[in-house]
Amino acid sequence: MQSMLDTVRCAALRLESEIAGGPILPAVTPQEIRNHLARYDFSEPVALEDACADVEKMLRTWQVQVTHPRYFGLFNPSVTPASVVADTLVAMYNPQLAAWRTSPAANEIERHTLQWLASKFGLPADSSATFTTGGAEANLTAVIVALTRAFPEYGEHGLRHLSGTPTFYVTSEANHSFNKIAHMTGLGRRALRTVATDEHLRMDVADLARQVADDRKNGFVPFMVAPTCGTTAAGVIDPLQELARFSKQENLWFHVDAAWGGAAILSPTLREHLAGIAEADSITCDAHKWFSVPMGAGMFFCRHPEAVAASFHAETCYMPAQTPGPVVDPYTSSTQWSRRFIGLKLFLALAEHGESGYIKMIEHQADMGDVLRESLTSAGWRIVNSTPLPVVCFTRDGLDTTSFVAALHKRQIAWMSEVRLAGAPVLRACITSFRTTESDIQWVVREMDGLL
Ligand SMILES: Cc1ncc(COP(=O)(O)O)c(C=O)c1O
Repeated sequence: MQSMLDTVRCAALRLESEIAGGPILPAVTPQEIRNHLARYDFSEPVALEDACADVEKMLRTWQVQVTHPRYFGLFNPSVTPASVVADTLVAMYNPQLAAWRTSPAANEIERHTLQWLASKFGLPADSSATFTTGGAEANLTAVIVALTRAFPEYGEHGLRHLSGTPTFYVTSEANHSFNKIAHMTGLGRRALRTVATDEHLRMDVADLARQVADDRKNGFVPFMVAPTCGTTAAGVIDPLQELARFSKQENLWFHVDAAWGGAAILSPTLREHLAGIAEADSITCDAHKWFSVPMGAGMFFCRHPEAVAASFHAETCYMPAQTPGPVVDPYTSSTQWSRRFIGLKLFLALAEHGESGYIKMIEHQADMGDVLRESLTSAGWRIVNSTPLPVVCFTRDGLDTTSFVAALHKRQIAWMSEVRLAGAPVLRACITSFRTTESDIQWVVREMDGLL
């Protein structure tokens, strides 16, 4: 009998080649899908084989194929077969990770994996770390922990008992999850300050210093700076070393949102660009981005385990009692209660490929970013962002980016997007797939020429 591993591997390989040879974008209306789904009124059972075949057909036809080698998209990766096997195993065993006692193996696998990555970031061995659903949850966790540490009364009495309004600092290039977090935590969206950027779209430390000083003068209470390591639109890395120094001087929580760029810490050639991240009070890093595992798999790292415990402590009579020994129950150290075994996909993928395999994958994508920059420049395009990471933003004189992207998609040449940098619309392409090759890129750039 074929093992589950063989079955998933075969299916993943078949899918990989079928997707690579097929369209990247769907052409479908909501009504078409709703009409199709009308057959499922659930009044009678449907054979699982038929329902599965139908769902697979829908997924093959009616979605952007983010695992396509010419999907140059928004950090959604191609996924390693090991990580797909992991998600299947998790679904089959359905471990509950809320309390250590219920799932000792799963909890220890997550702890082991997170500790390994925490040490790569240069965080202390006793740092706290948890898997999250994604970067937004990890950033939310950071804001809650930073608030709790800065304002010990926040947990019991809420923001209304604080003597001044807390403020925190990002640039306009930061991920918009922070705006929602400001809203959700009760800080209010206006508590989020937008720091100016320099000519490379990096956080301007002098402007940050000015804003923090002004806010203090006006009775606000700055508590956190959240630079990005690999901004969503342009892949830019804020000046982490300078910001680490400034945050320490000013007693501000230093949170690095490395949701995508954090994976570069593994690469001997790229990690120098992340210098300063080891000083972080907390870090967001998503496994479901450049670590090439399926969604949702974010990670939150924090060098202050006591602040994490103060933020999420909980005592109930219905949960299993705390296990004696060096064990933390995840429901008392994170935003989640019931907890899926998120970390297995990263653990199995790391186990299969090893650190060296991951370095190869990450550096291959960085190299493909360079190939894309060079090919575009040779074809007369202008690169407008500056990053060692594989996000390429570009344009040319007189280009109507919106209609160019529409034509690119219509002809199924590649998936790229349009972003606004410094107010101007440009094209954005990110190498998100470890399967993208030099010839994919050269073909795309040649085809783009035909659209001008
Ligand atoms: C820099 C950055 N931070 C946070 C997020 C949010 O992550 P998620 O979509 O995993 O919640 C993203 C998403 O692309 C991102 O690019």
